[in-house]
Amino acid sequence: MDIFVVEGGKRLEGSITVGGAKNAAVAIIPAAILSGDICRIENLPTISDVSVISQILVQLGAKVTQISNSVIEIDSRNLTGFQVSQELAKNMRASYYLLGALLGRFNRARVPMPGGCYFGVRPIDQHLKGFEALGADVGLRDGVVSLNAPNGLKANHIFMDVVSVGATINVMLASVKAEGLTIIENVAKEPHIVDLANFLNSMGADVRGAGTDVIKIRGVKELHGTTYSIIPDQIEAGTYMLAAAATGGDVTVNNIIPKHMECISKKLVEMGVSVYEYDDSIRIIRDGGLKACSVITMPHPGFPTDMQPQMAAVMALASGTSSITEGVWENRFQYIAELVKFGAKADVHGRVATFSGVEQLNGASVKATDLRGGAAMVIAALAAQGESSIREIFHIERGYEQLIDKLVGVGASITRKTVPDPPDKDEK
Ligand code: EPU
Repeated sequence: MDIFVVEGGKRLEGSITVGGAKNAAVAIIPAAILSGDICRIENLPTISDVSVISQILVQLGAKVTQISNSVIEIDSRNLTGFQVSQELAKNMRASYYLLGALLGRFNRARVPMPGGCYFGVRPIDQHLKGFEALGADVGLRDGVVSLNAPNGLKANHIFMDVVSVGATINVMLASVKAEGLTIIENVAKEPHIVDLANFLNSMGADVRGAGTDVIKIRGVKELHGTTYSIIPDQIEAGTYMLAAAATGGDVTVNNIIPKHMECISKKLVEMGVSVYEYDDSIRIIRDGGLKACSVITMPHPGFPTDMQPQMAAVMALASGTSSITEGVWENRFQYIAELVKFGAKADVHGRVATFSGVEQLNGASVKATDLRGGAAMVIAALAAQGESSIREIFHIERGYEQLIDKLVGVGASITRKTVPDPPDKDEK
């Protein structure tokens, strides 16, 4: 197995450039098949989730050409498949965007229930409710979702019971070619929802209101190919901002949209960190101690749940008592059992975690419990005195491109090593 080995306690200094947003990329790639044409997607992150979702399109009959590291061309003119294989679907959450994309293109889809990080139950009832409202029959058998709309899709007025990024995206994908005006209320407002709407519009769709609570989509008969560049990754940028804060560093994060970083910047300022915003970069400097703060995660524009584990690693070092209330997921604190191995003092009660800041973290042998929990392990290891090792790094590599190169570029000591697999627990 592969692990990261980190020699911590080094102040990060220099600049890091972030890549394209993972959660926009994994929606925009399947959305491209709605065009039945050639789409060129730029500023893609080089992460495993992007290669898996691209492989799904290939399996369905699309031609996907890698033009450069961050650019692909998707030719879906000859794509005819409408069934996604279990093998690929189980690797990632976003495989379920093929439900909306295939339904929108062919009026039918068969997609196994998706994989992805485990944060407790992850229902898809709002996705299915949206598809049904557009006229699809929904079936679920042996873990495979089947959608069929033999008479085509018809616009409807849909009210989401919960604010869901995935359901908002899936219903957008299904309705761009549905006949009439679809109105979706109580939608998610994350930057990648707006990015997807811009991408769909660049293919000739008529999507309005993305970024507000109500999205209106007037169905069009045909879409066409496009060239589109994905927005920068808010969460990757935030992760490096917090790594700089945790190590008492001075790091400029480039290729960002400062507006997307506001809720993170404000928390860092509360914690005593200096934050300087420029047109498309942000500089983080910490030379004093860290102060405790509290965070409640919420759908956008609230503090992103995808930043809470990384924030916990910083709170572990902040003087006083900090807290995180998880407002999105039922159970997103599994990583805390690993964080305490560095010497962090943390307690979890239901959806609230509290941290009594310690002066120093110490190197530890830990595992990544999920993608962002893994990023928190990297931050803690960078800040800790001594050597740390992080197992199960495939979680981290689903979402962070060239993590080692980027961190080494700002003075971190982090390497990837192959070590023997641990003995099977059941072996005698
Ligand atoms: N929910 C329902 N019913 C549904 C859908 C969602 O009850 O039909 C609930 C969920 O159980 C959860 C809440 O609504 O409590 C929000 O879930 P949402 O659907 O917004 O999450 P998601 O679309 O499955 C995406 C990101 C996650 C991120 C969440 C919240 C992708 C591929 N994943 O997940 O990102 O945590 O939105 O912002 O976009 C990550 O990148 O590390 C990651 C986990």
